[in-house]
Amino acid sequence: MKDSGVDGRIIELFRSGDGVVSGAALSRLLGVSRTAVWKHVKGLRAAGYLIEAVPSKGYRLLSSPKLLTQLDLSSGLATRRVGSRIVCLKETESTNQVAFKMAEEGAVEGTVVIADAQSAGKGRLGRVWLSPAGVNLYCSVVLRPAIAPMAACQLTFLSVVAVARAIESCTSLKPQIKWPNDILINGKKVAGLLNEMNAETEKVNFVVLGIGVNLNLRMSSIAESLLRHPATSLIEEGGEEVDRVAFTRRLLTELDELYDVFLQEGEGPVRAEWLERSAIRGRSVKVSQGEREFTGEVQGVDSFGALLVKLIDGTVETVLSGDVAL
Ligand code: BTN
Repeated sequence: MKDSGVDGRIIELFRSGDGVVSGAALSRLLGVSRTAVWKHVKGLRAAGYLIEAVPSKGYRLLSSPKLLTQLDLSSGLATRRVGSRIVCLKETESTNQVAFKMAEEGAVEGTVVIADAQSAGKGRLGRVWLSPAGVNLYCSVVLRPAIAPMAACQLTFLSVVAVARAIESCTSLKPQIKWPNDILINGKKVAGLLNEMNAETEKVNFVVLGIGVNLNLRMSSIAESLLRHPATSLIEEGGEEVDRVAFTRRLLTELDELYDVFLQEGEGPVRAEWLERSAIRGRSVKVSQGEREFTGEVQGVDSFGALLVKLIDGTVETVLSGDVAL
């Protein structure tokens, strides 16, 4: 469990209780004086938390600030590595860029960078990831696995499966996985993942897992010309607003659990879940790699995440990059 200080523990107690928490209980559970409790409540209010004082009963948390905060995300977060440090920004060019720089400067494994908006969100193949404020999740996670650079693409399985699990846990929607790292709902893209790596010939120094999920974006607010793929958001598909804090906490928890499995047992179990969820084996696909295009039947994915496509002449092509259409 992260130590997020007295403020974090107050938020955690509000979250775990079912209403009003008395000043006396807060003081006892936190091991601080009633005056100190009051000062912390005042500080939290100044930070945007709406905390009601219920006469002769105690305090009740009515709402958190609209922006995702480190306190909301880390208080009581039961992870081993992911979220060891959480940095929340109002706006940045790209959380991947910030996380990469922090990792170069020695950021601890599990460091998470989140922004409310990105002015130059990076997508795959040099594309732009639309990142309007206040509605979605833009997050980057620094990992430092002791693996060879060749194996780093296996980490894509982690973020894909973690996002799929988080969607299932926070909504009643059924996500589909599209190789290599898209997540679709009803055939439309709802999330994208971009891993970036710093490595030497023999070993990975760090990997940044970049994760963008369209949560509460209204698609009518985006000009159609800006959308490359048919795109959607969880609110559009599920009809209900998604709690960004709850979604992000779930995602970090799932990522942490999958990363632990990856470190203990290798990529096998996570790849197996990826394959099961992608339902891609046996499907006919069209692969585009720049000028080159071919069609074939998917045999599976190899342990490095490459798609194995059987061509009409029976040869099996190992696809490491490109666009795949079903
Ligand atoms: C894709 O093209 O499908 C990948 C999109 C990845 C977007 C995320 S948002 C958080 C992180 N920061 C970035 O600049 N990109 C990734």
